[in-house]
Amino acid sequence: MTQCPDQIRSKYNWARQPTLAQPALFGDAAQDCGLIGDSPAIPRVLRTVNKLADDVSPVLITGESGVGKELVARAVHQRSQLASRVFLPVDSASLVGSLMESELFGHTKGAFTGAVENKQGLARAADGGTLFLDEIGELPIEVQAKLLRLLQEGEVRPIGAVKPVRVQVRILAATNRDLTDEVASGRFREDLLFRLKVISIKIPPLRERREDIPRLTRFFLDRNSLKQLSLSSAAYKAFLEYDWPGNVRELENVVRSLVALSSRPVIELADLPSPLPSFAQSLGDRDAEPSEILPLAEVERRHILRAVEITKGDMRAAALMLGISRTTLYRKLNAYRNGDGKKEKNIRRDSDGQGRLFGQVGRPFNPVPRPFGGWNTNDSRSGSTADL
Ligand SMILES: Nc1ncnc2c1ncn2[C@@H]1O[C@H](COP(=O)(O)OP(=O)(O)OP(=O)(O)O)[C@@H](O)[C@H]1O
Ligand SMILES: [Mg+2]
Repeated sequence: MTQCPDQIRSKYNWARQPTLAQPALFGDAAQDCGLIGDSPAIPRVLRTVNKLADDVSPVLITGESGVGKELVARAVHQRSQLASRVFLPVDSASLVGSLMESELFGHTKGAFTGAVENKQGLARAADGGTLFLDEIGELPIEVQAKLLRLLQEGEVRPIGAVKPVRVQVRILAATNRDLTDEVASGRFREDLLFRLKVISIKIPPLRERREDIPRLTRFFLDRNSLKQLSLSSAAYKAFLEYDWPGNVRELENVVRSLVALSSRPVIELADLPSPLPSFAQSLGDRDAEPSEILPLAEVERRHILRAVEITKGDMRAAALMLGISRTTLYRKLNAYRNGDGKKEKNIRRDSDGQGRLFGQVGRPFNPVPRPFGGWNTNDSRSGSTADL
């Protein structure tokens, strides 16, 4: 992780003045701190990070999994006066049961069975620097009490110790849970939440800042490959349209796998892992003039035919992708044929019962086209005869 150098700090200070150049400037500075993005959310986050440069208060960073909470925590640390000191990330979810308290706050030799020597604990290991408590919502209530003491008094008492120990550590915390709900259900201390959320940074999910997708994609492509890889326009549309439930981490992983598997310089729609390909079609209409807006039924028709095309006529896969039953899919395709015999009249059900579709866009999907005569068009499940 690159540190934010002084010249970038001064850029930030200068950039506090609202100027037209601000977004680009934030973009560059953000990149040096590892935060990439063109949406308003990224400069907003960075503005807060920047304002905290002279502060060592606790900060609560919230957002769905994979949005970049740890990256932001690191940026807060790097921008602070503690930048040259230790940044110690702790995944609270990985600290198990009774060991958690000792891991965080230490113990003395003989404090409990197995405590064969003194242990200082992670809070003291981060003394003088920053302790980043990831998934803080996972901390059991008794450990939360000790953390509150650390925040309020600046001291910890290792298990078995008589006297508390002074610790000067900045606490950054992150969670993908709603801690207010956790307080309501008695799983999180309200006083601790109040202490933590004085300064909070909320990172929106990627689907709410789609402007970040192109730059992030380019960044991950370049970072993971020496080859100049790019996305075809259809693949690019799918990237923009997909909801990315795993957020930036999912985008990064998808790009990584594409880079590893790609043998061509341009990544095509067909190269994308499921369910991404099915998101390519709908965006095409996003820039349409009002007069070009299609009737919903026509959008559905195109979407269904597109799914069938993407799955190369595999009806089972197409139905799965569309979230409908195969019977519904056949019924709709039949209806399209009856309503518009031009494009769909060559649709045939495969005789092997696999439900493969041929000729939907005037060419066979199967690399080995079969003659149209003699297809067995009986649907094994519905018993209906489909003269597709
Ligand atoms: N704006 C961004 N620019 C560049 N990389 C990013 C950005 N946001 C996230 N990433 C990358 O995405 C991955 C996930 O980010 P990070 O670990 O910070 O997410 P998180 O919110 O802490 O996830 P979790 O809740 O699962 O712990 C990391 O590899 C990180 O570097
Ligand atoms: Mg994290």
